[in-house]
Amino acid sequence: SAIKEPKNEPLLSYAPGSPEKAALKKKLRELQQGEIEIPLIIGGKEVKTGMMGECIIPHKKNHVLARYHMAGEKEIRMAIEAAKNAQDEWEKMPWEHRASVFLKAAELLSGPWRSTLNGATMLGQSKTAHQAEIDSACELADFLRFNAYYLAQIIEEQPNSSQDSWNRLQYRPLEGFVFAITPFNFTAIGGNLPTAPALIGNTVLWKPASTAVYSNYFVMKLLQEAGLPDGVINFVPGSGSKLGNIVLTDENLAGIHFTGSTQVFGDIWRTVAENLRQYKAYPRIVGETGGKNFVFAHHSADVDALVTALIRGAYEYQGQKCSAASRAYVPQSIWPKVKERLLDEVSSIKVGDAENFTNFMSAVIDEKSLRNIDTYFTYTKASAEAEILHGGEVDDEEGFFVKPTVIVTTDPRFKTMEEEIFGPVLTIFVYPDNQFEKTIELCNETSPYGLTGAIFARDRKVISDLEKQLNHAASNFYINDKPTGAVVGQQPFGGSRASGTNDKAGSKLNLYRWINPRTIKENL
Ligand code: SER
Repeated sequence: SAIKEPKNEPLLSYAPGSPEKAALKKKLRELQQGEIEIPLIIGGKEVKTGMMGECIIPHKKNHVLARYHMAGEKEIRMAIEAAKNAQDEWEKMPWEHRASVFLKAAELLSGPWRSTLNGATMLGQSKTAHQAEIDSACELADFLRFNAYYLAQIIEEQPNSSQDSWNRLQYRPLEGFVFAITPFNFTAIGGNLPTAPALIGNTVLWKPASTAVYSNYFVMKLLQEAGLPDGVINFVPGSGSKLGNIVLTDENLAGIHFTGSTQVFGDIWRTVAENLRQYKAYPRIVGETGGKNFVFAHHSADVDALVTALIRGAYEYQGQKCSAASRAYVPQSIWPKVKERLLDEVSSIKVGDAENFTNFMSAVIDEKSLRNIDTYFTYTKASAEAEILHGGEVDDEEGFFVKPTVIVTTDPRFKTMEEEIFGPVLTIFVYPDNQFEKTIELCNETSPYGLTGAIFARDRKVISDLEKQLNHAASNFYINDKPTGAVVGQQPFGGSRASGTNDKAGSKLNLYRWINPRTIKENL
């Protein structure tokens, strides 16, 4: 292929005394010196509306990092126009030139922009340095490089020809613009959802989550510095419902690249269905939504590995990864050992300021999230079917802190076993060893989702059976590992059932969705 297979961006350690740590600390100070003003970026130009939103630091809630302008009806129409105007030239540009913009962005990101993106993610979304590094440095650079590499491969996929006819597939973009709606929890997803369709030659409207406008604005600036032509990606923060009503009913809407809640995704499908006659073509709808990810242990499991997976899977980034472990099934025979080790580990977790390099957890994203998580604590405390073994407390004095929480329940369908909480809450159902088969079924049926899941066993026959029996329960399936932390190019990521359309981010499968192929037969 025209592009060599990339290597994953190496993870920096931020060890004491390391140059990356010094650079990041300096950047964190700089970013907190005074507020910045974030404009919309439409057709490459800064646009201000005076309708303002605030970016605060979730772990220091009174610190305002930025005020951002929100799009109104007029600006959304401007952005649609800008995307339309930019499409022809962008689409006709040789694909190598489009790819090179994103490869350049990855290069800048792994060098001079790294501390800016990581610093912005640590402050705006309360990620620890390690969690930011995984996300806004490594995963984002990987998305940009691997997508370009996959496109190079796709372009070479051509049909057979015969002596008297030459057949070819032309990889056109969609006819119209793509609407990228991105979540707060990964800056990398913020970057991937608009850039993957753009790489193919599509132009894009990008609505970042209101709680991630800060880091996502720097992603936009990075893309501009890398040479992204005006109007190819238009950055339009604002109210989801206001934007949605206009964008989703526009005749040029050609695709939606979404990560967010199952409920909002459902609303999008409904609006698209209601307006189907209006569009020039059926819009492509690609979405990654909720999850209720399981860890299922067999009695042959390695207890240490299981406990590490539970801790990392449930509490890293405060349980706010869509892949986070949130329900576990543990056999009675190993439960005493698991419980002892788990409580030992969970009680040593340090929660606090994301800028402090020794904390393992920081704040959840906002007050609304903290209140929502707290309702589950209140519910559990009043229930006879469950007990809180650790945590179950929130503290919003300085920021939105939630203690890492372990719940154990006697009811496998207890509320916290079924509902997505999006916080550091793990619920465990301890099952009698002789009800192994029945518990697998429960695991399969308890949730409508199908995102990630992990099984723990040393018995190879059991591993093989579980893999089969939990066939549709998780579309990212882990054996003896935590269910989080998919790496681009290694574990293509996406969920099915109520978790999304499973178009695997950072893979060819995703890129195909942004292509409108034309088959050409030419008689010779
Ligand atoms: N890709 C992330 C993970 O695997 C979740 O979005 O954890």
